[in-house]
Amino acid sequence: MDQEKIAWYKARIDAELARSERRETPDDCPQLPPLPMARYVDPHFYQLEQTHVFGKSWLYAAMESQLPEIGSYMLWDEAQFPVILVRGRDAKVRAFYNACSHRGGSLVSAPSGKTSAFACNFHCWTYDLDGRLKFVPEEYEFPGLDKKALGLRPLRCESFGNMIFVNRDPAAVPLREYIGELGDELDHFDFHRRIYVDTLYYDLDCNWKIALDAFAESYHIFRTHATTVAPMMDSRAGVTKMWKGGHSYMITPFRRGGAVYYDRGDTGDPRHEITRNENQSATLFPNMELFLMEESMSLLNFWPRGVDKTRFEGVVITLGDEITPAKRAQADQLIEQLGIVFPEDISNMGAVQRSAETGMLEMAQLGCLEKRLYQFNEEIDRKIGVENIPEHLRVQQVLGPYLL
Ligand code: FES
Ligand SMILES: [Fe+2]
Repeated sequence: MDQEKIAWYKARIDAELARSERRETPDDCPQLPPLPMARYVDPHFYQLEQTHVFGKSWLYAAMESQLPEIGSYMLWDEAQFPVILVRGRDAKVRAFYNACSHRGGSLVSAPSGKTSAFACNFHCWTYDLDGRLKFVPEEYEFPGLDKKALGLRPLRCESFGNMIFVNRDPAAVPLREYIGELGDELDHFDFHRRIYVDTLYYDLDCNWKIALDAFAESYHIFRTHATTVAPMMDSRAGVTKMWKGGHSYMITPFRRGGAVYYDRGDTGDPRHEITRNENQSATLFPNMELFLMEESMSLLNFWPRGVDKTRFEGVVITLGDEITPAKRAQADQLIEQLGIVFPEDISNMGAVQRSAETGMLEMAQLGCLEKRLYQFNEEIDRKIGVENIPEHLRVQQVLGPYLL
């Protein structure tokens, strides 16, 4: 981040703080129409999301460092279709469905490993690291078999820095184009120098959007995190950017002279002045929240497991070529803090789910501090196609003029 941008953010934060002290309504956010709670429980809407949102979006899968060598592979099964990620002989990472072209047997059952080929567990059809079918036992029993056409089925697989994403849609735009201008903000965090550290998992009894919503707004901090995050952060002075495509970015200032519970990392890099002194997060549509920090940071992914079930994956990554004891210790402080804060967020989700399921609440009311959440819901409807959504489940499209 250059000095000009740092100065711009600082001025915006000061302006937001002054506005909240004057108790004035912001001028960059309209009145947000009520959000139908049925969007969290309707099975048909869930299916529409699966087809048009998860079936066509770039989804975070892993870090490049998790596939360190040629032949390193991992089984990735978070998005309800098992995928093999493998580093090929040309050092490129590819993604294939874990489904044999013969009759659909699985190639990989271990969570990760290293191999020179994938042999199916059923009848041993064998594929090279680039997916080519290279061996069929008793091949003479298959008259006219075209081995060239029967390689493993690939998915789109591209990286942003060292973050690997997959996409089921062969016609999807390239990943960098999909991330758009949010990518310029993310570039500041040197993702090409990031490595995997650890993951925290939580299985939640709520819709995936209820889980994601809880991390996409700062309004809840003063109440939900009264003794943990609130003494550290001033959620009134947030600065938000929202783009077409559902992505957004939010800076929430740390309190000047406020509490510090863990080592946030400090690389001494002058570009990182904002990073060091403010909390930054981004929503990468559809299901990822990035909590951006100078050294260790967390990548939150919310994986639907049914209309009322979610797998919450909190991936911790750090900066550098290897995890030194000092880096591990710094990351462990973050992990310890997340282990306290995540359950606070999770504690609200069951009640919201029940309010939706029972119909006790039909419509949610959102304020300007929650506008990213509304923007994200608008984008879901655009991805599905508004005309495909029953009227009582739609959100009104009002944020267009406020998107960058
Ligand atoms: S299903 Fe894979 S070899 Fe038969
Ligand atoms: Fe929170």
